[in-house]
Amino acid sequence: MPKCKTYLVQVIIARDYRHLSETAAGVVAGAVIAKPQLALCLPTGNTPKGLYRELIRLYREKRIDFSRVSFFNLDEYLGLRADHTQSFRAYLWREFLNYVNVRRANVYAPDENYEETIRRAGSIDLLISGIGTNGHIAFNEPGSSKTSRTRIVELAQSTLQGMRQHFAPGELPTEAITVGIGTVLEARRVLLLASGHNKADVFARALTERPSSELPASFLQNHPNVTAIADEDAARVYKDISHERIQT
Ligand code: GLP
Repeated sequence: MPKCKTYLVQVIIARDYRHLSETAAGVVAGAVIAKPQLALCLPTGNTPKGLYRELIRLYREKRIDFSRVSFFNLDEYLGLRADHTQSFRAYLWREFLNYVNVRRANVYAPDENYEETIRRAGSIDLLISGIGTNGHIAFNEPGSSKTSRTRIVELAQSTLQGMRQHFAPGELPTEAITVGIGTVLEARRVLLLASGHNKADVFARALTERPSSELPASFLQNHPNVTAIADEDAARVYKDISHERIQT
């Protein structure tokens, strides 16, 4: 086994969800300004919605230009049409891409050639991820290996439980295609977003426990350039732990 370094994750505690969204948008805007042909990998879920609203605002104010940016979906359900309202492709257009000057040819969703597509784009410059309450990032559920690549996965029971309310009976996808942990760790920079009380435990564990497959998000500690942005609610447990460490 190659020796595996762990790094301190830079943590920004935002006052509230709005501040989290503005801070994250600032990171994205800075990255696009520094490199207009940025390869940007994006998540779905509730957490990044404020970030997308903020990026649309920056675009309308002519402070950001997406015309040369490439967009990569982190993950997608298997067996849903792209235009299904719950598909992650539909989500990304609805929440963000429809409102900015993206070029359709620069938008990618995971498929069997995804690793090759990413390589051809020069690899991911900035990857943004949320975190599941079971510690998943993208759809790397507990048990995912650190070296995993883009692949088809079975969704965990806890993930399916949360999805049920959004799907008609019989329509619930049980599999997804997701970038792997290895894919995430090869991105040049990672931004982890966490918002709300229900993420407080998992956020603290991901940043402070020894990296392991039990909690895939903990592998982010093996990446040298991760910024985690949490609002006060999501950072509550992390703050207690880091405070104790400073005291002792
Ligand atoms: C989903 C997605 C993840 C996302 C996570 C958290 O299952 N596959 O990419 O980060 O759940 O979602 P939310 O932000 O709604 O809590």
